[in-house]
Amino acid sequence: MPDKGLDFLVARKDLRQCKCVEAVPPETLEAGEVLLRVDRFAFSANNVSYAVFGEAMHYWDFFPAPTGWGRVPVWGFAQVARSRHPELHENERLYGYLPMSTFLVVRPDEIAPDRFTDAAAHRKPLPEAYQRYRRCAGDPAYRAEYENQQAILWPLYYTSFLAEDFLAENRLFGAKQALIASASSKTALGVAFLLKRRAGCEVVGLTSARNRTFCENVGYYDRVLTYEHVDSLNASVPTVFVDMAGEGRLLHAVHHHFHENMKYSCIIGATHWENRSTQHALPGAKLQFFFAPTRVVQRRKDWGIEGFERRYAEAWAAFLPSVNRWLKVIEGHGPAAIEAAYREVLEGKSRPELGHILSL
Ligand SMILES: NC(=O)c1ccc[n+]([C@@H]2O[C@H](COP(=O)([O-])OP(=O)(O)OC[C@H]3O[C@@H](n4cnc5c(N)ncnc54)[C@H](OP(=O)(O)O)[C@@H]3O)[C@@H](O)[C@H]2O)c1
Repeated sequence: MPDKGLDFLVARKDLRQCKCVEAVPPETLEAGEVLLRVDRFAFSANNVSYAVFGEAMHYWDFFPAPTGWGRVPVWGFAQVARSRHPELHENERLYGYLPMSTFLVVRPDEIAPDRFTDAAAHRKPLPEAYQRYRRCAGDPAYRAEYENQQAILWPLYYTSFLAEDFLAENRLFGAKQALIASASSKTALGVAFLLKRRAGCEVVGLTSARNRTFCENVGYYDRVLTYEHVDSLNASVPTVFVDMAGEGRLLHAVHHHFHENMKYSCIIGATHWENRSTQHALPGAKLQFFFAPTRVVQRRKDWGIEGFERRYAEAWAAFLPSVNRWLKVIEGHGPAAIEAAYREVLEGKSRPELGHILSL
């Protein structure tokens, strides 16, 4: 008798509707398949964005769900529960892209001691950065005592690393100042940490009033302003804008403030998902969308897979000690805790220093 589990489902057309339903793993696996039991995963605004862009960017396609519902992708740890693959054995621990579910069947391919790719047919058309699983036992970056930090920050800081590397490669497009919106988000904090480490420009955070003190205390920003104070910035300073908020009015205000001194502007996130930007003609540099899974393909080509891994591991090791000064991990178990964390993050009520770790 296969043991039972749960799926956390979200209504695709109304993200405020959600429910937990019973899930049963397949009784038999096909040759080459592996059944994973999801152990723990993180949940932050990044995962809300996966749901917001579920249709437009195909995030719903990773983990199929009943019609009208979606399983939100998350990053976390899983254990091999059953295997019909000769190289993956029961109880092996993995890190990667998972559903908010107890079970997931994968079809490992491109197997190396530290990683494999899920070759499931329905995932093939989707960006490959989401298909890779890290095998903890062979992963030189894995530290059992930092599992929670890895689940919460690894994929976000990955984006921070790629974005900052892109800005540095382009010599900050001649800017002397980097303006980062939704400065309290973990992805923004990573960008600020890396920019400040390179010390090529002033790093200015833009955030909401309630998160200002947090941003100042973290110490990654040279200056922190609230959204209403964009006008107080010196408009003659050549600036790059790194936007995690994706908010229409803010984008408009920032571009109209800097005009031709806006040297580069990119949207990376949409934490303010209910007030998303509508594209108007904006003064200054043309607005770009920065997508980490696209940039990583370029850098893995430039540096090779091992070269990329080495550089990222170095940047991660530099970030971790400072993270321990501000990140507070909060663990929740079971359907009620998952729904509470989901709603808190969806409504933007989560405190920025909290990192949710959940298990079903
Ligand atoms: N393009 C890519 O490749 C890529 C990759 C990874 C992540 N991202 C994006 O990066 C963004 C940040 O993700 P994260 O997980 O780092 O965020 P997070 O740490 O959970 O961010 C929390 C912060 O976001 C703001 N916020 C969250 N929900 C809100 C709401 N409903 N209304 C208003 N503000 C809200 C608040 O910041 P403030 O008060 O400071 O505004 C809050 O402190 C996401 O939108 C994600 O999609 C993009």
